[in-house]
Amino acid sequence: MAKRSPVEVFSEWAEIGKDEGMAKGHHSAVTQMLEIALPTDESFSFLDAGCGNGWVVRLVSQMERCSQASGVDGSEPMIEKAKATDPGGSYFCSDLLEWVPSSLFDVVHSMEVFYYFDKPLELLSHIHDSWVAPGGLLVMGADFYRENTVSHDWPEKTQINTMTLLSEGEWIALFEKAGFTEVKSRRIDPKEGWAGTLCVTGRKATGF
Ligand SMILES: C[S@@+](CC[C@H](N)C(=O)[O-])C[C@H]1O[C@@H](n2cnc3c(N)ncnc32)[C@H](O)[C@@H]1O
Repeated sequence: MAKRSPVEVFSEWAEIGKDEGMAKGHHSAVTQMLEIALPTDESFSFLDAGCGNGWVVRLVSQMERCSQASGVDGSEPMIEKAKATDPGGSYFCSDLLEWVPSSLFDVVHSMEVFYYFDKPLELLSHIHDSWVAPGGLLVMGADFYRENTVSHDWPEKTQINTMTLLSEGEWIALFEKAGFTEVKSRRIDPKEGWAGTLCVTGRKATGF
């Protein structure tokens, strides 16, 4: 069987209900990413890039300091699910490389999405230039990366045609090349046989 694009595969996941298991699997790492990324002393606007069924948008939109939460994903079935669950919510169906928001966000979050691009630098530069507000933060989570050796066979297992395997250091270098400052990385929930979710953050300079 020919390999398929990430959006084709995740659209099928939405149609057969596998998106819910994925949300549960990502919950612990995402909660910790949000603790790292969300301001505790001021209001913030929030975007989830590759939001799937929108579960993180709904979680964050209930927080007291959140002034606006939106999600964007390239899969129509994922976005239809998000809108059906949360009719008043703000969801957009678009390829991330093509989407340009009407206003910038203080926090852009993304879990398990960026390695589905064959040129992640192009995406990081687009997010830096067109999505993040000056002084705002990008937080990325990834389980498919060089040091997490157990993930290396996922392209074969999932039959997805675009999965870019980078090391922690390579992700940090790409964030910096895209223009982010204060770039930091950590591993979330590592255990025997699992290197943890790689979490990388970067800030857009205030004077940008
Ligand atoms: C592994 S899922 C993660 C979904 C969500 N972040 C979560 O944690 O439940 C990856 C998501 O990225 C989306 N995606 C992949 N490539 C994309 C692209 N080029 N443009 C927009 N969305 C894309 C897929 O449709 C899918 O919903």
